[in-house]
Amino acid sequence: MREVRASAPGKVNLTLRVGAPTPDGYHPLVTVFEALNLRETVTVRTSKAPGVRVETIAYLPDGSVDEATTRAMADLDPQTHLAVRAARVLQRLAAAGPWASTAAGLSIRVDKRVPVAGGMAGGSADAAAALVACNELWELGLGADQLETIGRTLGADVPACLAGGIALGTGRGDHMSVLRKGDEAVAQHHWVMLLAREGLSTPSVFREFDRIDAEQAPALVNPSPEEVAALCAGPESLRHCLVNDLQAPALRLRPELAETIAAATDAGALAVMLSGSGPTVAALARDAEHAHTLAATLSDAPTVARAIPAHGSACGARIESTEAI
Ligand code: C5P
Repeated sequence: MREVRASAPGKVNLTLRVGAPTPDGYHPLVTVFEALNLRETVTVRTSKAPGVRVETIAYLPDGSVDEATTRAMADLDPQTHLAVRAARVLQRLAAAGPWASTAAGLSIRVDKRVPVAGGMAGGSADAAAALVACNELWELGLGADQLETIGRTLGADVPACLAGGIALGTGRGDHMSVLRKGDEAVAQHHWVMLLAREGLSTPSVFREFDRIDAEQAPALVNPSPEEVAALCAGPESLRHCLVNDLQAPALRLRPELAETIAAATDAGALAVMLSGSGPTVAALARDAEHAHTLAATLSDAPTVARAIPAHGSACGARIESTEAI
């Protein structure tokens, strides 16, 4: 039997420009992702029992088990778990390869550190890590481009979690070009991620965008070289570039998020913005110490469930270990 462990990062969108929906209901996006040091770890193991089993354990920032989220993940239909859906796609390919005899049974363990339903791509990071892990487990030899192609069939943010670093996403936000490679040794941007007390569904935010904002949506253009340079530079440059077209619709659905944004601004964040489709709010800090001070202050704000310091840009999905067991 073999066991492979892989990890993939959650993200924040530094910019998120949204166009009017196409006939399939999806929205063209021009977005710049930054991978964060909050990572999902997916461990896959061949198993004699056929089928795919999944167990998810969620953690709080202090490393203790988040019992409520762990229970909620156990209640989830495994067929909707993105790690399972990713593994099943590669399982079909493995059935034709040298590991065919061991491809029928798989157990997956997900160690979750990216907040659930927060606009930080936790589910997509599960899929990205599962793709990388299963590619290794069954020695499929799929390259980055092939994983990206499979990834985008699972979710629009999966390619960003595969790529890591600071990356431009076009199309549905799922066609990537890396602007700056992830580097764990250099934390370029420090954030405090402010979690809301209740999740917000991504389709509902896009629907609200369609109701009010889509009509005035400007034509989408890729960032200029100067904008790319500013996005990849330090926080004093970045603070002027942050933009999110989903912030207005998300705030209409959840007016209390304006209180979170105001609290973070008053506490001295360099800039404050909704993360992706929310409801997490991202507050930009000067440095690691400032992020920790902001987190301590903002964890008491009435609309904030939890304040988590994070930094980027982190590496994309990668293998952590491979073992014969
Ligand atoms: O691709 P994913 O399943 O993560 O997308 C979730 C939902 O977000 C979609 O069902 C769609 O409603 C919306 N979406 C969109 N346009 C995009 C990406 C996502 O409308 N480019």
